[in-house]
Amino acid sequence: FNKLSEQNLSGKRALIRVDMNVPLKNGVIGDDTRIRASLPTIEHCLKAGAAVLLMTHLGRPTEGEPKPEDSLAPVVARLSELLGKPVRLIADFHAGVELAPGEVAMLENVRLNKGEKKNNDELGHAYAALCDVFVHDAFGTSHRAEASTHAVAKFAPVACAGLLLSAELDALSKALQAPARPLVAIVAGSKVSTKLTILEALADKVDQLIVGGGIANTFLLAEGKAIGKSLAEAELVEDAKRVIAKIRARGGDVPLPADVVCAKEFAETAAATTKNVAEVAADDMILDIGPDSAQQLAGIIAQAGTVVWNGPVGVFEFDQFGNGTKTLAQAIAESKAFSIAGGGDTLAAIAKYGITERISYISTGGGAFLEFLEGKELPAVAILAERAG
Ligand code: 3PG
Repeated sequence: FNKLSEQNLSGKRALIRVDMNVPLKNGVIGDDTRIRASLPTIEHCLKAGAAVLLMTHLGRPTEGEPKPEDSLAPVVARLSELLGKPVRLIADFHAGVELAPGEVAMLENVRLNKGEKKNNDELGHAYAALCDVFVHDAFGTSHRAEASTHAVAKFAPVACAGLLLSAELDALSKALQAPARPLVAIVAGSKVSTKLTILEALADKVDQLIVGGGIANTFLLAEGKAIGKSLAEAELVEDAKRVIAKIRARGGDVPLPADVVCAKEFAETAAATTKNVAEVAADDMILDIGPDSAQQLAGIIAQAGTVVWNGPVGVFEFDQFGNGTKTLAQAIAESKAFSIAGGGDTLAAIAKYGITERISYISTGGGAFLEFLEGKELPAVAILAERAG
């Protein structure tokens, strides 16, 4: 598709769809990663002589019913600090927006606009009328066809991909479309049901699939192991079996934990006991992989050419159940593999174990990252390809 670097932006108005949907509590930003990740594209446009108009959603407000907590005011304040220049917040853009080259403004939370969620054409036209060039840089919202990600791209005079979007797609393609092998995926988290499509899609690609959390428990059930009262989805055992069979048929494997860390209750103060999987009692809950399994998996990661990581393998929020995730995190940090990670819990684990700088690429996408792993087309990316003809 059209690239930002190929656009003549001098004296033009660039409308950039960013994803600055950051965690906010009482007006305080919990993590500004997504704001910082948007800076290269904004700075590129400013340097090239454009006037920069930004738009993003924040949370999931009700259309047409703005509440104070839906406002982008704290985001605009932080962005202004990071850019070192004022950023104007535009409450109502319908009367037009005045903006000179070198200036930056941001539309108020697009999800307050009627028709945004429904990808309304009229709203898309209204956004498009604000610019000469539309730049899509909101990778994290690319799985949503909404007026500010999709309709606008249909009607803008020019639609192109921003630097963050391009970097995300390049990293994901490198990991999944032409990976250096062995390709090792870590897919963990509480439920198979939310990640079944990913597991099925990866079963055709990976050399090793490391599962953890409730997902691993369902896989242990599939292998005929007793898991006590651990979180699992018995109804998905057949699906788990199919995934295992598919990978093994291709010469790969799904290495399941031989030892696990158990507790009698799910609590911060719960006592942790390491056991062989065969010793899990009826009243045990598996809350982490055991140290032997963690070492074995670390060995697999050390040999990998590519590592794709989504989901912690244990309840790492409680330290006594965090060793599995910590060991794998350190193995990824030390490995020479091209590594890519994404998803909220995964990013929290990466931050907790201090390995942010040692992952080759950390995606800003949550749902979008997962949908890419599922092999789904991202509508806001597809429309850019369409526009480029
Ligand atoms: C995200 O945080 O994953 C994106 O910003 C998309 O947000 P949404 O799930 O509310 O569409």
